[in-house]
Amino acid sequence: MSNSSFVSGLRCRVCGKTYPVEAINFCTDDFGPLEVVYDYTSLGKSVSRDAVSRRAPGLWRYRELLPLNGGPTVGLQVGGTPLVRADRLAAALGVDTVYVKNDAVNYPTLSFKDRVVAVALSKAIEFGFDTVGCASTGNLANSVAANAAAAGLDAYVFIPADLERAKVLGSTIYGARVVGVTGTYDEVNRLCTQVAFKYGWGFVNINLRPFYAEGSKTVGFEIAEQLGWRLPRHVVVPMAGGSLIGKVHKAFEELQRLGWVDQSPVSMYGAQATGCNPISDAVRNNRETHRPVRRPQTIAKSLAIGDPADGYFAGKLIRESGGWAEDVDDGAIVAGIELLARTEGIFAETAGGVTVAVAKKLIEQGRIPRDEEIVLCITGNGLKTQEAVAGVNAEPAVIRPSLDAVVDLLAQAPPRVRRQPALV
Ligand SMILES: Cc1ncc(COP(=O)(O)O)c(C=O)c1O
Ligand SMILES: [Zn+2]
Repeated sequence: MSNSSFVSGLRCRVCGKTYPVEAINFCTDDFGPLEVVYDYTSLGKSVSRDAVSRRAPGLWRYRELLPLNGGPTVGLQVGGTPLVRADRLAAALGVDTVYVKNDAVNYPTLSFKDRVVAVALSKAIEFGFDTVGCASTGNLANSVAANAAAAGLDAYVFIPADLERAKVLGSTIYGARVVGVTGTYDEVNRLCTQVAFKYGWGFVNINLRPFYAEGSKTVGFEIAEQLGWRLPRHVVVPMAGGSLIGKVHKAFEELQRLGWVDQSPVSMYGAQATGCNPISDAVRNNRETHRPVRRPQTIAKSLAIGDPADGYFAGKLIRESGGWAEDVDDGAIVAGIELLARTEGIFAETAGGVTVAVAKKLIEQGRIPRDEEIVLCITGNGLKTQEAVAGVNAEPAVIRPSLDAVVDLLAQAPPRVRRQPALV
């Protein structure tokens, strides 16, 4: 699978200054984040939507819109997750149409982070790094560890020391050097910036961040293609660093620019936990810049970034697209996880609970109309955050292996009438 690159360089999102393609992530003039720029005219002449549709499933079918010079070398099987029409969830939410983009089943580590890591590590290999790393709230750690192992790269993964058990184990199992730091994600991230500089390693979300972030566009490409090459009207996205929401929208813009979908407005909605809500707080209070949350307190640990790198741009996009942002407390997050599980059979992690609960809130507020199509981005798997829902479900009944025991049990608790789960 080869790819002649259509990348024309990197550009500062603040001042527009351009940079060559290197492992750098910020503008030396104003510290603005750098973004990958493409030559869409040449790209549009050399690949068509129909050609893309005929390719193998997965994120590399959009390879011309990803920032590699050659073919991908890491994460060849990533992406291609289901877009599920969620009628039972829609009924429970009291709306006409809901789709769930289910990255809880992404390969290989069950979150959308496999997309960003496939791109970042393929790029790291192009740059010649043999050691890679990340600062992570958990899912990125899992994905860097797994994909680095499969690619034969050394990996150093830095996480807050108090993450969920499965997020820690889901990194150490791959042989990565996992370092728990007694501090918040923002402290971990600052430390990693120093580490990347001192040792010259490729940190996927630091010096490789412009390339890493492009991987998230493939969520947007897939949604549009799975809808039959058209754009949805409303999209709800969980936010931590605030990168994913912007890249899903960038994907929609690129598809319109290439003429692969018709022009149509897409409103973007950001979802956060109340215990770490810098972006939703800024949007609600009509402030351009967010106020960092110093000590995040939420069960949605994957979203607990108090000082999001792309917070400013996420807020701006949300406002300009006609969307909104909200946050929900831990009880609502658990109820959101349950609602999705019981209506659609999808067990999402806490970030998914945030997304469902925020969607519900926005619908109730009248911010998302009930008669227009809504896509919910479910980005991680519930098996990784079991602590969050432990104790909320009844323990299974334990019986002797006899039919009498079943009869007795059902006499005590008759079969339930099929019902919609209770709404919070
Ligand atoms: C499951 C999950 N969803 C969403 C996000 C948010 O992504 P971003 O940092 O790009 O806003 C994260 C980030 O860690 C995550 O782990
Ligand atoms: Zn700049």
